Amino acid sequence: MSKVTVVGAGNVGATCANVLAVNEVANEVCLIDIKEGLAEGKAMDIMQTAQLMGFDTVVNGVTNDYSQTAGSDVVIITSGLPRKPGMTREELIGVNAGIVKNVASSTLKYSPDAILIVVSNPMDTMAYLALHSLGLPRNRVIGMGGALDSARLKYFLSQALHCNANDVDGFVIGGHGDTTMIPLTSYVTYKGIPVSEFLTKEELEQVVKSTMVGGATLTGLLGTSAWMAPGAAASSVAEAIIKDQKKMIPCSAALEGEYGMHDITIGVPCIIGRNGIERIVEIHLAPEEAQKLKDSEAAVRKTTAVLKELNVL
Ligand code: 2OP
Repeated sequence: MSKVTVVGAGNVGATCANVLAVNEVANEVCLIDIKEGLAEGKAMDIMQTAQLMGFDTVVNGVTNDYSQTAGSDVVIITSGLPRKPGMTREELIGVNAGIVKNVASSTLKYSPDAILIVVSNPMDTMAYLALHSLGLPRNRVIGMGGALDSARLKYFLSQALHCNANDVDGFVIGGHGDTTMIPLTSYVTYKGIPVSEFLTKEELEQVVKSTMVGGATLTGLLGTSAWMAPGAAASSVAEAIIKDQKKMIPCSAALEGEYGMHDITIGVPCIIGRNGIERIVEIHLAPEEAQKLKDSEAAVRKTTAVLKELNVL
């Protein structure tokens, strides 16, 4: 039996619970929110699609009763405010830090062995907060940003190449921020062929730019943060854990010397399996990409330092 808890029944949390159910990632999904009746309503709505979609996963909704989350293998934290048009993810830190810290400790009380996936923004800093406030080993706290940003990179690549998104490969490292993420152009391929065979430098640069502001573009169109791809990205990380898939997924991970960094949680390629982050993959970076990672590191450190100013860590 496997169980996933999704904390926060807003757009991202409810979508994530829905994808977990439709893909039968776990036997049970517990959706929890502080707003009376919201999680129950979203869970019931999802369960009314069970026969239509043909899934067996049971989704339960609860209001604020963390005892119902007990025995979760994976806990996905989506709680907190989403951004409004014109806002950066970093601006959410003041409100979201307290929420994420509380939620993380409440869930761990009932699921002491759970692996945590952090979705709330600013995501790298919230993952750092969860890890250090709970004193967990680093394999058990995963920030999902790179999974989402890499899916967006593949989408924009498929648009530029007029091809199927499943035929392209590539990934994004660095922070999960409009200016801090790094789509690695030297590693993008179309059916294993370097994308430079098909796209000009300018076209590839445009793909990179679109990817970096992918979330902001959607926030502008929707009036709030995106939820379909964020929810699905979090579900894909949970699936890699529950099914011990050993997939390489770019995630925000606590580094202990990898890429020359210490005491920071930032996006790098990780092998994700039953034990969470089972390995961090160190790859060669072109000098320009290595410099971008240094700049991203500085920006993520600056945001993470705010946790101390706020006295949450
Ligand atoms: C995004 O990029 C919500 O941070 C998330 O859409």
